[in-house]
Amino acid sequence: MNAASKWESVKIFLLQKSEEVGINHPSGLGSKYVNNPLIYIDKQKKMYDLIAPSSDSKVFEIGPGVGYFGYICESMSDNDLFQYSGIDCMIDVNNERWKDDCCYYEMHNKLNLSEKIREFFISPQEKIEFRGTFDHIVAMQASFAANWKTGQSWEVMDHIFFLHDCVEHLSEQGDLFIQHNPPLLTDDIKSLYHNLSDKQAITSGGFDSNLFFYITRNKLMEHLKTLD
Ligand SMILES: C[S@@+](CC[C@H](N)C(=O)[O-])C[C@H]1O[C@@H](n2cnc3c(N)ncnc32)[C@H](O)[C@@H]1O
Repeated sequence: MNAASKWESVKIFLLQKSEEVGINHPSGLGSKYVNNPLIYIDKQKKMYDLIAPSSDSKVFEIGPGVGYFGYICESMSDNDLFQYSGIDCMIDVNNERWKDDCCYYEMHNKLNLSEKIREFFISPQEKIEFRGTFDHIVAMQASFAANWKTGQSWEVMDHIFFLHDCVEHLSEQGDLFIQHNPPLLTDDIKSLYHNLSDKQAITSGGFDSNLFFYITRNKLMEHLKTLD
């Protein structure tokens, strides 16, 4: 099967599973993704196309939500060496643990991702438990850079700590694709990421280069040295 027909069947599958889960979750945590799936699925596919993981890549996702990206990665590669893993805090904005029957868990089950997405809460100035080295680290619509208890967003130094942590867990030719939730992007944080990002790659991938950042490990290493 060629890549275009493979993608068509992946998309149909994701739409079907979203509809099944959406019936049980007309509202509540994560329900917007399954009840209006097309826009989110297409956005994740655009990210997939931009990073273009090879069939034996190792991909790490922060905050996968319902798991569209993980499923796309897993099903577009037919190589057993391909590895997708993700972490999520698995708590909601009110600091309550996801309920067993929530929309996120139901989707992870349907997409066979339950074993691949593990619980981990990212905190400022604390290393992430990556458990390995990855070719691609991705975080779409990331909201980890905020302290939910205090309502405070991360400072620039917290982002620099995070970026150092990513460098240490990226393979030599690795890269980071990240979109922070827009309210978390103060001017100085935006400028940090903007200076690092390959704007041309972002724009040709169909993303806004002021909000989405694509950063190679080489660029990160070079730039972080100047900030130390
Ligand atoms: C806005 S959703 C984005 C979901 C998905 N990436 C997308 O683009 O549709 C943010 C995700 O990050 C997770 N998250 C938020 N804060 C986190 C933290 N401190 N550590 C780990 N995951 C976190 C949430 O549980 C949620 O799954």
